[in-house]
Amino acid sequence: MYWVGTSWKMNGDAASAREYCAALLAADRSAWEGLQPFVIPPATLISAVRAALGPAGVLVGAQNAHWEDKGAWTGELSVPQVADAGAQIVEIGHSERREYFNETDETVNLKVKAILAHDLRPLVCVGEDRSVFEAGGSVEHVCAQVDAALRGVDDTSTILLAYEPIWAIGEKGREPMPGDLEKVFDALQGRYGDRVEATLYGGSVNPGNAARLLGIPGVSGLFVGRSAWSGEGYAEILRLAG
Ligand code: G3P
Repeated sequence: MYWVGTSWKMNGDAASAREYCAALLAADRSAWEGLQPFVIPPATLISAVRAALGPAGVLVGAQNAHWEDKGAWTGELSVPQVADAGAQIVEIGHSERREYFNETDETVNLKVKAILAHDLRPLVCVGEDRSVFEAGGSVEHVCAQVDAALRGVDDTSTILLAYEPIWAIGEKGREPMPGDLEKVFDALQGRYGDRVEATLYGGSVNPGNAARLLGIPGVSGLFVGRSAWSGEGYAEILRLAG
């Protein structure tokens, strides 16, 4: 099964979330049969989005969670807290959190263990920057990040891996061309394919490239940003992936 989801990053409020969910639910859902959709809104909207989209089979996630269950961690949310709000998936290790919020391979590993201990599904993001890519070091870099994330975890079967090369993410990113991603997905498939639930691609996915990216051997899902920041946009990506 292909996993096709989106993170809204730091976008959305109660009104726009209602509009988003209504637009998504108005789309022809038969086109998504065989896909597992998921939406990762800001934490303030997890509960509302779960209530709106859960009955339609859309899983809902959190964009982060701490590895401790509770305590003096001002400004943080724990795995039990995001679960209580309705999260079924917890995203960790996104490059924006690694760059700006001190997320490291070590904290990603602690979070993987905490998420699994509470029976939620980790979505582990990995990816190299442009200089590593240009130097031909992508496979080594990405596999080292995955190895660190999975260290000491016996059962990795529910984990989603998302390969998101930093050079492809966001408005400053460039769309991957044929040949850019194949070696990394070949390595991910060979090393982890039997051990994890799915290996997703993320970074400048859009309606024009979604089907091609899903066709790369080893890609079993898409993790979409900007192109899925409207319900209509996400429905279109799901239609093309279905
Ligand atoms: O988490 C998905 C994201 O990092 C990709 O963003 O906007 O390049 O699709 P975007």
